[in-house]
Amino acid sequence: MSNENHINRRGVLMVPLMTAFLPLLSSSPIMAQTTHRKIILDVDTGVDDAAAILIANIAPSIELLGITTVNGNTNIYNATRNSLFIKHKFSINAPVIKGADKPINGIYVEDKKFHGKDGLGDAYDMSATNVSIPNITAHDFILKTVNDNPGDVTIVSVGPSTNLALAIQKDPSFVKNVHSVVIMGGAAGFNGQMGNVSPVAEFNIFTDPEASDIVMAADWPLTMVGLDVTYSAPTYDSYFDELIKSAGEAGQFLKNINQYYINSYEKDRGVRASNQHDSMALMYLLHPEIFTTRRGKIKVSTESVFSRGQTIFCPENHSFASQEGWLERPVHQACATVNSDAFLNLFRRYINMYKNKEI
Ligand code: BDR
Ligand code: CA
Repeated sequence: MSNENHINRRGVLMVPLMTAFLPLLSSSPIMAQTTHRKIILDVDTGVDDAAAILIANIAPSIELLGITTVNGNTNIYNATRNSLFIKHKFSINAPVIKGADKPINGIYVEDKKFHGKDGLGDAYDMSATNVSIPNITAHDFILKTVNDNPGDVTIVSVGPSTNLALAIQKDPSFVKNVHSVVIMGGAAGFNGQMGNVSPVAEFNIFTDPEASDIVMAADWPLTMVGLDVTYSAPTYDSYFDELIKSAGEAGQFLKNINQYYINSYEKDRGVRASNQHDSMALMYLLHPEIFTTRRGKIKVSTESVFSRGQTIFCPENHSFASQEGWLERPVHQACATVNSDAFLNLFRRYINMYKNKEI
């Protein structure tokens, strides 16, 4: 994170004006604000997960140690196969490791509405994909990788939190060895955003609230990148058309897989644009200067039908934070705003890096 950033009295992350707008300048060095990071990317691939994988693979400041999969947007077979399809198509070195096939409570309901039958927008024939994978489960891979690199590994989780919760349950002490955690999921209500699968629940959290609550209750540096920011930068057909011109095959791939997703969003929200939720989490890691954040405690509701999967955000300085129940919970941070033009510009610039690679 930039050393120039500081938290003001309201807990908003402040950055100098020039720094915040630097990524908007097409001639500015893309790496200006970033620090070298070893990451594990936990995905339920998923159309927007696919873009996040591409960015994690190409960003020069990221060392992608592994891509772990989890059931979510699609079942675990599809999520793993889709990740392998992307790995082979774009010559990604990082291994793909298969993870949980059901949430902690054992009940998985597959949703084919948003990401298509195959989870990747039904845009490609993936039947010939080589689906061989290392013989280790995702949560064991996470434990081993973190414990072998104490203090060095950031986990970016852009699907349900099942693999992370399984890792904590197996070895709670691994939490102290994690550098940081970035979660795409939930909503703190900063911009009136609450839920996308119920009035108060976001998909990733709703799919496995028990797991998410274990993750939010752990005492590690965690940032929630929720719907508060991820709906701020819609990607229209025209954005992908430009991406084809600037990035070639990688742009074409994203356009193809996003067609189903854009149609789904049009039906659901009445706007013909998709949202790159998962890349937003990665962008927070790469360019925290384009976000503002607030510090607070986060509880996930596992209770009733109506609030199930809700992320309840309690600001750290509010008197509520010392009430029973809240007192024991660790302080995390949640993204409150994003410079959406900077996000879209940076997204394009990372995908453009594939232009000169042989795909
Ligand atoms: C999240 O749910 C999934 O549909 C997306 O991949 C993203 O991780 C958005 O709510
Ligand atoms: Ca996802």
